[in-house]
Amino acid sequence: MSKNVLKFTTSRLVANLFDTVNVVHDPFSKRIVKSGDRINLGKGHEIEFISAPNLHWPDTIFSFDRKTQVLYTCDAFGMHYCSDDTFDKDLEAIEADFRFYYDCLMGPNARSLLNAMKKMGELGKIEIIANGHGPLLYHHLNILKECYHNWSQKQATKETTVGLFYVSEYGYSDRMAQAISHGIQKSEVGVEIIDIATADVQEVNELAGRSAGIIIGMPPSDHVAAHGAISSLLSVVKNKQFIGFFECYGGDDEPISPLRKRFIDLGIKEAFPAIKVKQTPDEALFRELEESGTDMGQLVVRARNIKQIKSIDVNLEKALGRISNGLYIITTAKGETKSAMLASWVTQASLKPLGFTIAVAKDRAIESCLQIGDRFVLNVLEEGNYKQLKKHFLKRLLPGSDRFAGVNTQTAKNGSPILTDALAYMECEVLSTMECSDHYIMYCSVQDGRVSKPEGLTAVRHRKVGNYY
Ligand SMILES: Cc1cc2nc3c(=O)[nH]c(=O)nc-3n(C[C@H](O)[C@H](O)[C@H](O)COP(=O)(O)O)c2cc1C
Repeated sequence: MSKNVLKFTTSRLVANLFDTVNVVHDPFSKRIVKSGDRINLGKGHEIEFISAPNLHWPDTIFSFDRKTQVLYTCDAFGMHYCSDDTFDKDLEAIEADFRFYYDCLMGPNARSLLNAMKKMGELGKIEIIANGHGPLLYHHLNILKECYHNWSQKQATKETTVGLFYVSEYGYSDRMAQAISHGIQKSEVGVEIIDIATADVQEVNELAGRSAGIIIGMPPSDHVAAHGAISSLLSVVKNKQFIGFFECYGGDDEPISPLRKRFIDLGIKEAFPAIKVKQTPDEALFRELEESGTDMGQLVVRARNIKQIKSIDVNLEKALGRISNGLYIITTAKGETKSAMLASWVTQASLKPLGFTIAVAKDRAIESCLQIGDRFVLNVLEEGNYKQLKKHFLKRLLPGSDRFAGVNTQTAKNGSPILTDALAYMECEVLSTMECSDHYIMYCSVQDGRVSKPEGLTAVRHRKVGNYY
């Protein structure tokens, strides 16, 4: 393959990018292409270009080689997964990363993705999808394509959407926007992202008009187009919408406070405290962004969820409430992040290995620390001695706060905190996960454990109704 072809197929083809930035640091012959154009490379390789905008970049373009039936998709269909396999041989090994990448990068543009997939359908047989990240899709191409289609359809038809407006490729804005949108999607709310450097005013107004929440990544202070888009947002927002702001750490971000005040003065409620970035974004900041996104998501669907809970049949509710479980606190430490959750949907599930399941709501902050292979501690609460711990771990905290402040802990062999006042603890590992509507059921094995009071009894949760924990 010639040097030029590689450039066409592995990078985005952007006229002004090549004109303004010397991307390859070397002179090379170029031709600007648009959707439907073809370039004949000889020996039967005719490359056809298919515009697939917004798939992580406003100007994404796919390239298709009819001879080999390879479709080059840039970021779409990728994953941040690296192994010795060139292809997607091991579906089980890649599926979690494939999904996570989709949620972060593609889900926010599900409608664009469905349009792109429609165009892919018109190409005829595709043998391989050669994405820009991770293994190439070949062995399980149809399954993975179907996943993309189903997830996008689900995402595009979500009744509630949050619009995220920012300037892509400015400071850390892309990674920050991804963290927030992942957090929003955890609460089963759709996200749509618009790059306000290139979007037109109608597009901005249309999305803002139908969004329950609006998030603004602060643009550079001298970016005329972005500020035009923000002024336009100010003119279309409604006071039942929620708003959130984050800085992009680009060096000359527009200050948040004056803009925030203008939205608040219009009666818009803030979903999370504005995220100001003082130092290079780190793991803790990305976590705060994700949690802030989840807070936004939970707020915009709160009224709908309460209505749904109320609509459950009363008898059924009472009968379900007779299912009882113990009371536990799950604690984790992953990298720099420590997290905890009060849980009662915990049930032993196997003898060999010793294993149990936990049910974790999709929008729990702890969910990202409970991926397959992650380790944690299951702390068992004691009957007659659990109220304080229960109260502490149910307290609502601001995104990024320390969950363990003021609690006595020791460190388990797997690094997670053990609650000193718990009746017993077990060191555990997540072995597999099943997606069940609004919760993940996680099957976990137990490696180690100890009881602090052999005569102590487990606290049991007796409920009157089954439409809450
Ligand atoms: C008695 C009780 C039991 C709970 N059990 C579970 C559970 O098994 N799974 C779950 O996802 N959430 C459960 N919750 C809810 C979470 O503990 C609680 O909402 C959560 O800690 C808030 O964290 P978040 O900010 O990450 O959403 C339970 C809540 C209560 C009051």
